[in-house]
Amino acid sequence: MAEIDPRRLVEPSCYAEHGYPHEEWRTLRREAPLEHFSVPGWVPFWAVTRHADIVEISKQPDLFLNAPGMTVARQLEGDRPDPPQIRTIINMDPPDHRQYRAVASPYFTPRALRKLGPLIETTARELVDGLGDEGECDFITDVASLHPLKIIARILGVPEEDEPFILRLTNELFGSEDPEFQRDEDRMEGMRSLFMEFWEYFGKIMSDRRANPRDDLASVFANARIDGKPMGELETMGYCLIAFTAGHETTRGSIGGGLDALIRFPEELERWARDPELTPRAIDEIVRYVTPVNTMVRTATRDYELRGQQIREGDKLILFYASANRDEEIFDDPDRLVLDRHPNRHLGFGIGEHFCLGAHLARKTSGTLFQELTSRLENVEPAGSFERTASNLVPGIKHMPIRYRLRRAAA
Ligand code: HEM
Repeated sequence: MAEIDPRRLVEPSCYAEHGYPHEEWRTLRREAPLEHFSVPGWVPFWAVTRHADIVEISKQPDLFLNAPGMTVARQLEGDRPDPPQIRTIINMDPPDHRQYRAVASPYFTPRALRKLGPLIETTARELVDGLGDEGECDFITDVASLHPLKIIARILGVPEEDEPFILRLTNELFGSEDPEFQRDEDRMEGMRSLFMEFWEYFGKIMSDRRANPRDDLASVFANARIDGKPMGELETMGYCLIAFTAGHETTRGSIGGGLDALIRFPEELERWARDPELTPRAIDEIVRYVTPVNTMVRTATRDYELRGQQIREGDKLILFYASANRDEEIFDDPDRLVLDRHPNRHLGFGIGEHFCLGAHLARKTSGTLFQELTSRLENVEPAGSFERTASNLVPGIKHMPIRYRLRRAAA
């Protein structure tokens, strides 16, 4: 196989410096689609880079588990304790997973989300209006981050004045390896104090919603019952954590990465502006092209043969969704953004048991913002270099200076 540097696959700093390792993945897909790596400092792993293999693994949730850890694991030094754990649906497996997922799933159906339409439209319009007719901004901090933050805060029932606090917590959680967001040089210590702060904040909201339930997702979590008994504290807090973090950072990544892609493919931006009907397909194509959630990890519960390789019980497999989404066997011209791509069997929202619970919300949130933006953008270009978060999980753009000119909004 052509030499590749496997640190590029997992080191957060490599993602910050060079972006996604598309060159390396292309080589792996072609020459070693399922390859075992031992990278110093990281738990050894199989790199799964082909679409078909990720689908085969994801469709067997009893065999390939999420619970032992769904993020790429660092090798812990000495006898240090494991990082703190909260039980979220994303690290549950059958049969628990289905039961707990059912707590929130009715809230995320297209029908249930319809009532959020006006809120999502107003937020998108206000953010784009706030840019004025022309100027420069950091598109991530001024738009891409605020839109999902405001929507998820309202859904969950978090007061508006607490949004900056929540934003800081999610940045610190996903950016725990990024010098800008890291709360403590000792990463474990940082995570511990972050979880405590989180616990204290949402603990108060949960007590309030038990006493005074409202029409919000916090009330659903606070009053949920499993097997006729109140849902446990670890799982309740897990739900609060995942609703915020899985929803914010990822949608921000697709909005920021989406505009970056449209700057690279200006003819697609023009096409979208002329044809708003493109939006549903365009949003899925952006999720494919950007793939905000780069990786998920599974652990094998028994020996299994895949692509002629022998996976052993206990082995870790990294599913590189961003590689599968450029798989030449599935997508024509995979490195091009083609807004009306159809069919588009991308894995940007995962597949199978853990398919993204918030996919409809994410499509609606980012679709509405892009529709507002593409209908009004006359010109957009970089006004400095874009910076990425140091992360192998959600390595999105964190600062994106742009220069733009907008048309006036239709009255
Ligand atoms: C463009 C935005 C988004 C992307 C790219 C994305 C991506 C993903 C992916 C890849 C998974 C599968 C994880 C796995 O394989 O184990 C997932 C799961 C999940 N997502 Fe999203 N997501 C997005 C937005 C959202 C939003 C807005 C919410 C909710 C507010 C959300 C909530 C969840 C939850 C709760 C799960 C876990 C589902 C389960 O384990 O059953 N996501 N997401």
